[in-house]
This record gives sequence, structure tokens and C-alpha cells, in this order.
Amino acid sequence: DKGNHRHFMAKEIEEQPEVIGHTLAEYVDFAEGTVRVPEKLPFDFAALDRITITACGTASYAGLTAKYWFERIARLPTEVDIASEFRYREAPLPKNGLAIVVSQSGETADTLAALRYCKQQGQHTLAIVNVPESTIARESEMVFRTYAGPEIGVASTKAFTCQLTALACLAILAGKLRGTLTLEQERELVSALIMAPRQMTEILKEEKHIADVAREIANARDVLFLGRGLNYPIALEGALKLKEISYIHAEGYAAGELKHGPIALIDENVPVIVIAPHDELYDKTISNMEEVAARGGKIVLLTDDHGMTDNEHKAFRSIRVPKAHPFVSPLLYAVPVQLLAYHAAVFIGTDVDQPRNLAKSVTVE
Ligand code: F6R
Repeated sequence: DKGNHRHFMAKEIEEQPEVIGHTLAEYVDFAEGTVRVPEKLPFDFAALDRITITACGTASYAGLTAKYWFERIARLPTEVDIASEFRYREAPLPKNGLAIVVSQSGETADTLAALRYCKQQGQHTLAIVNVPESTIARESEMVFRTYAGPEIGVASTKAFTCQLTALACLAILAGKLRGTLTLEQERELVSALIMAPRQMTEILKEEKHIADVAREIANARDVLFLGRGLNYPIALEGALKLKEISYIHAEGYAAGELKHGPIALIDENVPVIVIAPHDELYDKTISNMEEVAARGGKIVLLTDDHGMTDNEHKAFRSIRVPKAHPFVSPLLYAVPVQLLAYHAAVFIGTDVDQPRNLAKSVTVE
């Protein structure tokens, strides 16, 4: 049931504050302001040498975000690969390794094959899944469910941000059990997560403005998305979302990689979406934005109050995102890139919930 929404995708974007809240309720002790430690952990986080994350598409971008979290917060070396590559490359895996697979449906064939390979290689296995009775959930040693509820739109939205939420909690748990986080640091990160749903609601209130910006990019032939650090995966996700539902060609790049090739694409016809929260990488991202501006690129700047004050005048359009702890910024910046894709597609008139050539669950290899 779409309720009073035109598309399932619109409904699912709007549900995010609520379903993130449900997912947090599972993994966070609100009274203590800490993460919950599961009763029976089938492995010892402190003894792990490496995490290997595999997934496909949007789920793989949740995995890539988690790499930054696990490495920073839990000091755990983390590798991420798309399942269709990982499963065939016979990767050597360490003795004390944890394999994490991320999947909304829990039925994606390549992700399932990657999980089975990791099991054969003696890895502990943990699945982040939205469908608890799925094959991937059944075959994993441990399951961290996301509580997104049924996702009907083919383009993943709320499942993605719930995956981010569950992975963020898992990274905090890893840091806690490995002793790389103090109680105070743990509480700081958990409180940032608890604030995220409300901040997402604030972004949703900007929908009309974001739709106006989307209209301005809807007739572009190519669109680039740039981000750094935790928001590099969000740049990839923004580009995937835009191409899959609006059929506009889009690519996401790590902002620092631009000058190694893609900057050749920039001219006054190319909108460049720059994801730039005011964090430790902000100045670097802004200097990449200036390189684009100098070549006539049409900048759409996604930033917080600080970035607006400094740099709004350099952009063609801008979208304000609430100031948040850098740790949770991917959760927040996911929302405007979803809305940009959605409104560009609605404006163009494509079939948003059923894009051509795509299936909701990819059970073929
Ligand atoms: C993109 C999208 C796909 C899925 C991918 C994995 O919007 O939905 O890229 O993320 O097919 O699907 P799951 O998560 O079901 O394994």
C-alpha cells in the first residue's frame, strides 16, 4: 500500500526516520546510551584479524561505508568487494576472519555464493539482512537484522540506511569489545546515531527545494557525484540511484580521484553533486569542488550550515543538511541523493518503482 504517496519509493524514503528508529531500538540501549552486547556471540571480536564484506549494488555501498567505520573505530582491517567478483577470485582468508554479507532480500545469488565460499574457508559469518527467513539469513552463523519492513520499490532506499545503521552499531560493538573505544567515546557515537532519525526528518522537510534542484539536473546527459571518506560510498550510491531510475548517466568518484582522469568530463553541461559535510576532509573536498567550478561545472553543493556560510556562493545550487557528528553523516547525506534521483525520475516520467531491465531480487548469477 502506497498510502498517499505516488510511488513506493517516495513512501520508503519518507519512512526512513521511523525504520532507522526501529533498527536502532534493536541494537542500542537507549537508557545507557550504549550498544547492546548480544548474549551469544559465536566469535571473539578481540581475536579477529580481518573483516571481509561482500554484497552487490547498494548493499555493497553500505559495506564500503562500514569499512571506514570498522577500521577507524575498531582498528580492524576490513576488505570490501562486490560479490560477483569476490566469489570467483579465490581470495585467501585469514584464520581469525569474520565474513559479513549485506543483503536486503537475503537471496542475491552472488552474495549467497560469497557467503558459502567464506564458510568453506573457515570464516565466521554474519549477515545483515532485511528478510529474516531468507537463505542468506539461514546459512549465516549470526544475523543482524535490519528492520526496514518490506521494501517494494526496486531502487533500495530505506533498506540501505537501515543497513548503515546496523553496521554502525556493529562497528561500535566491535570497538567496545576490542577495547579501542572508551565508554565515553561509545556514548558519543551512540548519541549521534540516536539523533539521526530526527535530523533525517529535517532533511525530508526540504523535499520541495530538493525537487526544484532535481529538475535542474534532469536534462543533463551526465552527472557526477563526489565525496570523500564516509561520504565516498554515498557518492557511489547517489550515482547508482540516479542512473537506475532516471536513466541519466551518472558516476560517483572519490573527490580526490577526479584530477586523475574524470575531470576531463567537466564542462558547463555537467552537474556535479558535491557531498561536503564540515568534517576533517571538508577543506580537501571544497578544493576539489573549486577545481570543478573553475572548469565551468555546475555545482550542486550538499553541506551543513558551516559549509553554506562559506561556500554556498560558489555553487549553482545547494542543499542544506543538518550539522551532525561526522560518524553519522552517511545516514543523513543518503537522503538528499535519494530525493534528487527520485525527483529527477518523476520529472522525466520514468517508471520509478519498476525501472526497466531491473529486478528486485537478483537470484541469477
Ligand atoms: C539498487 C539496488 C540493488 C541491490 C542489489 C543487492 O537500488 O537495489 O543494487 O542493492 O541488487 O540486493 P540485495 O540487497 O537484496 O542483496
